Amino acid sequence: MEPILVTGGSGTLGRRLVDRLVADGRTVRVLSRRPRPAQTATVIEWITGDLLTGAGLDTALADGAVVVHCATNPVRPRQDIEATGRLIEAARQAATPHLLHVSIVGIDLVPLPYYRAKLRVERLIEESGLPWTIQRATQFHELVLAAAHKLTRGPVGIAPAVITQPVAADEVAERLAALTQQGPAGRVPDLGGPASGTLAEFIRATLDAEGRRRPLLPLRIPGRTGRALHQGHLTTREPNTGRLTFREFLTP
Ligand SMILES: NC(=O)c1ccc[n+]([C@@H]2O[C@H](COP(=O)([O-])OP(=O)(O)OC[C@H]3O[C@@H](n4cnc5c(N)ncnc54)[C@H](OP(=O)(O)O)[C@@H]3O)[C@@H](O)[C@H]2O)c1
Repeated sequence: MEPILVTGGSGTLGRRLVDRLVADGRTVRVLSRRPRPAQTATVIEWITGDLLTGAGLDTALADGAVVVHCATNPVRPRQDIEATGRLIEAARQAATPHLLHVSIVGIDLVPLPYYRAKLRVERLIEESGLPWTIQRATQFHELVLAAAHKLTRGPVGIAPAVITQPVAADEVAERLAALTQQGPAGRVPDLGGPASGTLAEFIRATLDAEGRRRPLLPLRIPGRTGRALHQGHLTTREPNTGRLTFREFLTP
């Protein structure tokens, strides 16, 4: 079987996907800007490189590798467009048989700068001429937990008016691993978590699970973005949702 290159294989989702693919007996490569961490399983081919410069891409894409593109930089969204452009260019040269990308539910409805960039990335992939699959997912439990911690640092917590439907990153990894076996499928049904709710509810669940108490101050985000986040555009009605609830995720 062809090797699988996971860009962003050192990230929240990528790490979980790499572990699954290794467990499935696949040959797995990771492209990362960092040197190989000491604890990395020896079966993983670790390629130090950078999507923005193209360093390491030739080696990473050799032997007809299937690509699962999980690399991202939410802090500098334009870099995602540039990085994906370079990946596509190199993948064309290497005649990559399948470029699989993970995107976010609602990016076409919520005008955040990061989401606009993600939409551009989707278009680049769709128009790349390469065989492709795009899997959109909702926010990961891991992201919602990190947000809950950040928003409750002070004596009064802040609860932005956002409706979300978090899913376990591990279940997104499971879906992506299955998609690598299926071949190019275009845009596939969204993957969301088992329940949607307000961010305030997920923050309260976090406080409960950690035995902390905080009053929560509701925060209405202004403008079109605020309305879209409040109206539930980050959620999906697709029936095949993730299984692990946020509360179960919080239970050690
Ligand atoms: N987080 C969520 O809630 C969520 C929800 C739905 C979809 N998604 C999507 O899922 C994907 C993965 O998200 P994540 O949360 O797992 O991301 P993450 O933890 O922030 O990891 C990002 C990864 O991108 C790599 N990267 C960034 N710039 C790079 C560059 N120039 N060259 C090579 N590698 C680069 C980083 O690797 P090094 O630092 O090792 O180089 C890192 O492994 C993204 O496409 C994201 O939009 C995320």
